[in-house]
Amino acid sequence: MMRTQNPAKAAGRIERAAKLIREGGVVAFPTETVYGLGASAFDALAVARVFELKARPRFDPLIVHIAALTEVESLATSFPRAAQKLAEHFWPGPLTLVLPKRPIVPDIVTAGLPSVAIRQPDHPVALALLLAAGVPIAAPSANPFGRTSPTTAAHVAEHFGEQLDLILDGGPCRVGVESTIVSFVEPMPVLLRPGGVSLEEIELAIGPVAVQTSNGERPLAPGQLPSHYAPRTPLSLLNEGAARDGAGRVGLLSFRRPLDCIGLAAVEILSEQGDLREAAANLFAAIRRLDAQRLDLIIADPVPEAGLGRAIMDRLRRASVGAAAHFDQTEAT
Ligand code: TXA
Ligand code: MG
Repeated sequence: MMRTQNPAKAAGRIERAAKLIREGGVVAFPTETVYGLGASAFDALAVARVFELKARPRFDPLIVHIAALTEVESLATSFPRAAQKLAEHFWPGPLTLVLPKRPIVPDIVTAGLPSVAIRQPDHPVALALLLAAGVPIAAPSANPFGRTSPTTAAHVAEHFGEQLDLILDGGPCRVGVESTIVSFVEPMPVLLRPGGVSLEEIELAIGPVAVQTSNGERPLAPGQLPSHYAPRTPLSLLNEGAARDGAGRVGLLSFRRPLDCIGLAAVEILSEQGDLREAAANLFAAIRRLDAQRLDLIIADPVPEAGLGRAIMDRLRRASVGAAAHFDQTEAT
């Protein structure tokens, strides 16, 4: 894994990665949201290897990445007007559309669902890779299942290192949280996951969208489990009664500059100015840095739940559920 600065070398690596994809390999690549672990969407065996590498349950479908909007037709049986409008507005970009699938998409990609999730990423390396590969690329985030998503090539290498055929380095991800997922399987569009495009922006483009809210037990979409994005260190949200006293070494994940840091072993500030875009871009790397400090507890400061704040709070809530589960386990053994 090397950051290739030389454009000729970078192009060479993209060509190599594309060849690997065409030949059934698995390649990690950057997108504007998080790094993905990609295989040819038409190669069921290669996709199976992605599931194995991630230890991802087979009921959790993958997103299919495309180089151009015109490819939707070859993967989906219908492309409703509102979905087209969103694609025209936000692609390439952090938006995934769930549409009824064509039989050409293998069942392993969609976990047996009759629908397929599609997105055109907005990253020069991802787009160059897709073009060079000449096939759509099925890719989940490049982290072991349930763990914090990677926003740098180094994060991916920490998880998978030698196990991968190639890691393309495109620098830190600009958006930092995963794509927004909107389903067009029912007559009314449904937001399945808040992400890099805000609900406000989507509703401005196509009008009201139904929002599935998790009751904390039932997954929203397959794979949208209540526990996800979890660091190893227990994480609690500040407004949900995080008990600091007697918790040992406590780290703070702060939205803005905190008023006081007394007694804290570590502090990460997501955005000095309280900017939600900047906070989202810093979120996963900040969680990882805190997780590396051998803390007993991470306390996370809630952010306003508007715009990108919705995606940030979604990730923090799931990270806190995961950490609690981890904590219970370690208590029990
Ligand atoms: O930004 C992103 O979306 C990143 C980058 C790599 O593109 N990818 C990503 O993939 O976040 P992953 O696998 O971590 O999350 C994809 C989610 C799954 O959890 C699943 O719930 C949903 O997409 N999904 C995929 N196919 C679906 C389908 N047919 N119906 C409903 N949800 C689906
Ligand atoms: Mg993921």
